Amino acid sequence: MEQTPASLLKEFQTIFNSDDTPRYFFAPGRINLIGEHTDYNGGHVFPASISFGTYALAAKRNDNKLRFYSVNFPEKGVIECDLSNLDFKDQDNWANYPKGMIRAFLQDGFSITTGADILYYGNIPNGAGLSSSASIEMATGVILENLFNLTIDRVRMVQLGQKVENEYIGVNSGIMDQFAIGKGKKGHAILLDCQSLEYRYAPLDLENQVIIIINTNKRRELAGSKYNERRSECERALGDLQSELSITSLGELSIEQFEEHKHLIKNSTDMIRAKHAVYENQRTLAALEKLKENKLDDFGKLMNESHLSLQHDYEVTGIELDTIVETAWQQEGVLGARMTGAGFGGCAIAIVEKDHVDSFKQNIHDVYLNKIGYEPTFYVATIGDGAKEIENEGVFK
Ligand code: GLA
Repeated sequence: MEQTPASLLKEFQTIFNSDDTPRYFFAPGRINLIGEHTDYNGGHVFPASISFGTYALAAKRNDNKLRFYSVNFPEKGVIECDLSNLDFKDQDNWANYPKGMIRAFLQDGFSITTGADILYYGNIPNGAGLSSSASIEMATGVILENLFNLTIDRVRMVQLGQKVENEYIGVNSGIMDQFAIGKGKKGHAILLDCQSLEYRYAPLDLENQVIIIINTNKRRELAGSKYNERRSECERALGDLQSELSITSLGELSIEQFEEHKHLIKNSTDMIRAKHAVYENQRTLAALEKLKENKLDDFGKLMNESHLSLQHDYEVTGIELDTIVETAWQQEGVLGARMTGAGFGGCAIAIVEKDHVDSFKQNIHDVYLNKIGYEPTFYVATIGDGAKEIENEGVFK
């Protein structure tokens, strides 16, 4: 489904029966290069915003009504509410994300003086684990910022997005997705310390390689409950370690400190979960150094190690992701491959030499179809900017 600014404008005016000229906004999706399940453990992550994302057209109204429409969910129709009642409602479905964001802004003291009509269109593959929900939240954040001339620090906006996810939607996620989407920068990945929120940009100078995203197309049904289970396991491990160590997160531990004190963790499952969190955090820091030194081969090896740790210690991969990643490792021209995001389905990423992309796709497709019974989907990741107001030109693929 290809959309243009003109086609979306027409849809906006028809759906909302309005001749207003809306303003255009975009918030990307994200991939994570390395540093998985480290954000809520106070460690580092290394994500980047991608060119797939959420487009939104928005115009202020003269009353207090909010009307939302998604081109992706036409069957849900226009979802309407009033600025004075932004409570979560099951039947409001996807529109709870923008509603939650507006409520979070109001609770934070920002002045949103009127209602608005907002049309959303997303081209992030559905359920792919590339953060379509955080993308809607951050698109809504930049709409509010610009329509109502608010002065809001971008990191605060990111935190409000996470708050919506945690307290309003009820998903106990970390801050990585909203941060990657809110602070993304074209051609760069972001090394973020999730404890202090200090961050720096690292240029991704891939000359002869591309990052390929491979979608397992597996539905991620159990993802939410398993995600929360992993969080609790890590929290318990941290509690055990705190009996002797004065730390506030697993991200504060070096590998040596962990190895020396891991006997304190009573439950063996909690121990391997914590092991992943500590080692993955150190791998992420090492990956930044490798990238700075332009040692992409070594960067790729760290990605591979990350996957193995997520497979065996954190246990969030599954046969679909493992089939893709293990097949990717065997292909010519592959520097590294791993799952990305929460896991349990969703997407993998691989750094592949340009010359080998065709055979890479073909071989993975064949092995996956044969073993899993349905096809994977491939996309080339382009690293674009974070959430912002955009011009109404170009093609929204
Ligand atoms: C999801 C969450 C993030 C992060 C990743 C795993 O994407 O939303 O906060 O925990 O999983 O790294």
